[in-house]
Amino acid sequence: MKRTKIKELLITPKLGSDVLVKGWVRTKRGNRNIAFIAVNDGSTINNIQVVADTALFDENLMKDISTGSCIAVKGRLVESQGQGQHVEINASEIELYGKSDAETYPLQKKGHSMEFLRENAHLRFRTNTFGAVFRIRHAMAFAIHNYFNEKGFFYLHTPIITGSDCEGAGEMFHVTTMDLKNIPRNNDGTVDFKTDFYGKETNLTVSGQLEGELGALALGEIYTFGPTFRAENSNTPRHLSEFWMIEPEMAFYDLDDNMDLAEDFVKYLIRYALQNCREDLEFLNNMIDKALLERLNFVLGNDFVRMTYTEAVEILKASSEKWEYPVGWGRDLQAEHERYLVEKHFKRPVILTDYPKEIKAFYMKQNDDGKTVRAMDVLFPGIGEIIGGSQREENYDKLITRIREMKMPEKDLWWYLDTRRFGTAPHSGFGLGFERLILFVTGMSNIRDVIPFPRTPKNAEF
Ligand code: 4AD
Ligand code: MG
Repeated sequence: MKRTKIKELLITPKLGSDVLVKGWVRTKRGNRNIAFIAVNDGSTINNIQVVADTALFDENLMKDISTGSCIAVKGRLVESQGQGQHVEINASEIELYGKSDAETYPLQKKGHSMEFLRENAHLRFRTNTFGAVFRIRHAMAFAIHNYFNEKGFFYLHTPIITGSDCEGAGEMFHVTTMDLKNIPRNNDGTVDFKTDFYGKETNLTVSGQLEGELGALALGEIYTFGPTFRAENSNTPRHLSEFWMIEPEMAFYDLDDNMDLAEDFVKYLIRYALQNCREDLEFLNNMIDKALLERLNFVLGNDFVRMTYTEAVEILKASSEKWEYPVGWGRDLQAEHERYLVEKHFKRPVILTDYPKEIKAFYMKQNDDGKTVRAMDVLFPGIGEIIGGSQREENYDKLITRIREMKMPEKDLWWYLDTRRFGTAPHSGFGLGFERLILFVTGMSNIRDVIPFPRTPKNAEF
């Protein structure tokens, strides 16, 4: 007999038919004569209730079925007599795949703290909350590919090991096969990378953008979707040292086109979640964040505010808020400033543009004022920055001047500069932090709880 997934069973219940389900026991209750076993197989947030007449089964088997154990159940699908479910299975055969000792199973009880579940990240998939989060994470990844595929963008695989530092922030993890106890050195004491695996200094990528640009300037519109790594020592609810980023890059787009795409893209993803992840979202709305559905619908229904960094600084300076970090033209905005604009001042998503060039990366298109660049940051309620992007500097002379001003390793970027020497074109792109999107869509409050195995400073368990 073929196994039926619980999701399928509940969508189109064939009452009176014999079914086989397999899954993990969430709860077992009952008495000497009858047992009610709630089984979940991960296909849906909903459990199926298994009703077992204990006289039909071995006493030891019934004893061994407890929270966390894994069973296969054959039986008849019938209309439920009790409250809380429409259908249930009258068990005729039960096979126990794996016991779960009630004394030691970490998830024996309900209502664990998020911290506890993080320490048990290997088991937290089995809770309702994390089941919902990771089903939604999957749906969002799928929707991202769908969106770009429908628009004719090509998925480009950019390298994970690189020799460049796209963001120029120096927050990189080295990649080496050198013997760390015996590092080869040049006469001046610097490390001699010639004998290393790649014969040069390499690191894990912080962004696929630079290679993405090479693709866009031939294929037209591309996107990357891969892991990125940042060795920044930020212990916040919004930073990971290994996170996933989606980076579309488009030839012939200016900053306005870029903003239009970013807004349309995130709205598509939110709409997709509302249409395809209804039960999981309703669960999270009830259990995690009562304003979740309202917030998702609100973002869908309203245009994002678009304004310059300079205008935003004026608003922040005029507010009576007490800031932890000072506000002033030329200073980077902190999460507290971004969230004030979005949550208190405008009460909707905001796209800020034209930041001072000193606080942005070398590749951004320079404005004629000599002070600002065609940057854009999309700011979201509860999150702060969810997207960062820009129009790119396509002029070779301006780009090389900036690279020199910023003392970037010019000779390592020869291939990037070549695109500006041979058939350069106006182009733009942005990066959406995948986990920040999932934070927003699920209403979870810590980024460690929307990626299966979070990597943060001093934390690489599992
Ligand atoms: O603003 P960022 O640094 O931009 C770039 O990397 C550009 N190369 C993107 C581009 O134009 N193609 O990062 C983009 C987004 C941020 O807005 C944020 O959502 C996310 O990536 N992000 C992080 N997410 C989790 N943990 C971190 N440490 C993150 N750093 C950035
Ligand atoms: Mg940024």
